[in-house]
Amino acid sequence: MPEKEPTVSYDAHATRRYERIHGEIFNPVEQQRLHDSLRRAVATIQTGSQPLTALDYGCGSGNLTRHLIDLGLQTVSADVSEHFLRLIEKDFSRSGLSSTLQINGADLSGVQDCHFDLVATYSVLHHVPDYLHIVAEMCRVVKPGGVVYIDHEATEAYYSRPAEYVEFLRKAQPRVNWRRYLRLLFDVPGYVHIVRRLLNPRYKREGDIHVWPDDHIEWDKIERVLTERGWEVVLKQDYLLCRSLYDPAVYSQYKDRCSDQRVLIARKRQDPHGL
Ligand SMILES: C[S@@+](CC[C@H](N)C(=O)[O-])C[C@H]1O[C@@H](n2cnc3c(N)ncnc32)[C@H](O)[C@@H]1O
Repeated sequence: MPEKEPTVSYDAHATRRYERIHGEIFNPVEQQRLHDSLRRAVATIQTGSQPLTALDYGCGSGNLTRHLIDLGLQTVSADVSEHFLRLIEKDFSRSGLSSTLQINGADLSGVQDCHFDLVATYSVLHHVPDYLHIVAEMCRVVKPGGVVYIDHEATEAYYSRPAEYVEFLRKAQPRVNWRRYLRLLFDVPGYVHIVRRLLNPRYKREGDIHVWPDDHIEWDKIERVLTERGWEVVLKQDYLLCRSLYDPAVYSQYKDRCSDQRVLIARKRQDPHGL
């Protein structure tokens, strides 16, 4: 995997606006799917601990944190962005189940081996230069019988574009996305990002790195990190992400016929030496 450094400061995106502009995450269909998948992950835990503890790796504004707390888990929300962590403290501290951890983005140094019942991450690995190393770190900090949950990363189908997926995109998306153009027009601070993109075609405003046909998240490699350590893959499910701009009728018609994202749940074996 190419060595890369993030090119943006995530703090710039750590505002309430983050949830408004990410309609592909914060819509009822995706939130229900996510909640159901996390419930499944929690049901898979076999550590015998009570209460259960979770690490939300790359928590952002608290998308996973919110669900994990709802499910009763004592949750540590971790991010490289201090501003996101301050938002989390404002929103969740009263739950009594929330704490925060600033991380360095490269490893989980400072977190003990076998510490959490669940480590969950959603839409983060494609931001991480050495994402396979982070998966290995997640394995390290989970207790025997505990679970790693990885969600919202594109599959090969997203890049290879099978005919049915192309047909779906053509039918589901508006021909001209006026909302997007208007947002871009009035987003004056965003003009600097347009210039950066012109200078570097791989520049991404929110620091996505592994999102290109020749450099993207490789699920088979993630799975290898887990299985080489003796982990059991409990769920590997591909799904069609419900973006808010899609026509709901077209989405319903195609959601079981094509997919572009994956969620994976894996459990650590009970052998305490199986790090
Ligand atoms: C697309 S957002 C996803 C946020 C959240 N998980 C959600 O579901 O909305 C990506 C998040 O990853 C964080 N991030 C970026 N690089 C990271 C790294 N190397 N390690 C951990 N988190 C990182 C960003 O600060 C941001 O909060």
